[in-house]
Amino acid sequence: MKIPGKVAVVTGGGSGMGEVVCRYLAEQGAKVVIIDKSENAALRVAKEIQGIAIGCDVTQAAPLEAAFTSIEQQYEQAIAIVVNCAGVAPAKRMVGKEGPVSLAWFEEVIQINLIGTFNVMRLAADQMIKAQAMDDNERGIIINTASIAAFEGQIGQTAYSASKAGIVGMMLPAARELAQFGIRVMTIAPGLVDTPMLQGMPDKVRDSLASQSLFPKRFVKPAEFAALVGHVISNPMLNAEVIRLDAGIRMQAT
Ligand SMILES: NC(=O)c1ccc[n+]([C@@H]2O[C@H](COP(=O)([O-])OP(=O)(O)OC[C@H]3O[C@@H](n4cnc5c(N)ncnc54)[C@H](O)[C@@H]3O)[C@@H](O)[C@H]2O)c1
Repeated sequence: MKIPGKVAVVTGGGSGMGEVVCRYLAEQGAKVVIIDKSENAALRVAKEIQGIAIGCDVTQAAPLEAAFTSIEQQYEQAIAIVVNCAGVAPAKRMVGKEGPVSLAWFEEVIQINLIGTFNVMRLAADQMIKAQAMDDNERGIIINTASIAAFEGQIGQTAYSASKAGIVGMMLPAARELAQFGIRVMTIAPGLVDTPMLQGMPDKVRDSLASQSLFPKRFVKPAEFAALVGHVISNPMLNAEVIRLDAGIRMQAT
């Protein structure tokens, strides 16, 4: 799909990888909509790129439905590109010094990372299905962000890994269902990306993690993630696949 002129929704666009994807898509000529729980963050990015900011929690059904309706009304055009970046990565042992972790903790991570991604996907697909077909008979592309923790979760990542493995798992049935409408569903599984999510770590931990990469031995730059998003959008033969962006790292247990 060609990017210029398309309406592109980026969730979690107020920070990190989502923010860089917003800038990238705007530079490529897309009409960008930033959906983020932090309305201030979304507004800051939207102002810079002349996009639309929507402060919304992706886990909420009715507010997100209203957001999707308002996007179509404002641009008078259906959404063609969705990049799901909203997510959280809290780590906790299943059984800590104070006993078993609360079930609410596990539920919250699944709610945001997995159910939030599905919530966006179902509403975006509904809008795309009703739209006119574009170049190459495409109606849309949905790119979800998993993580290599979907495959090699570390100690403390039961909830995060389960949520990201869920994103990987739902991709194929979604792509199969939407294929007849010319909608592709792809997943990117990044390794360690240099964003606020990981910037809080002590340097020693960051260096040790980066050294586990094969080559190059450094964190992924958010711009490298955005460039991959751009390629996935542009290449119509990429569908129902997970692409690792990780410099060959295989995470250890700790
Ligand atoms: N940083 C990494 O190393 C890394 C690695 C693999 C995967 N990921 C995944 O990439 C995605 C982006 O991560 P990042 O590093 O840019 O994180 P980040 O913390 O910089 O940005 C995440 C954004 O999501 C928003 N958000 C969180 N919960 C939300 C909700 N319920 N509704 C709407 N917005 C919400 C936050 O407000 C924030 O702006 C996440 O899904 C993360 O799990 C990150």
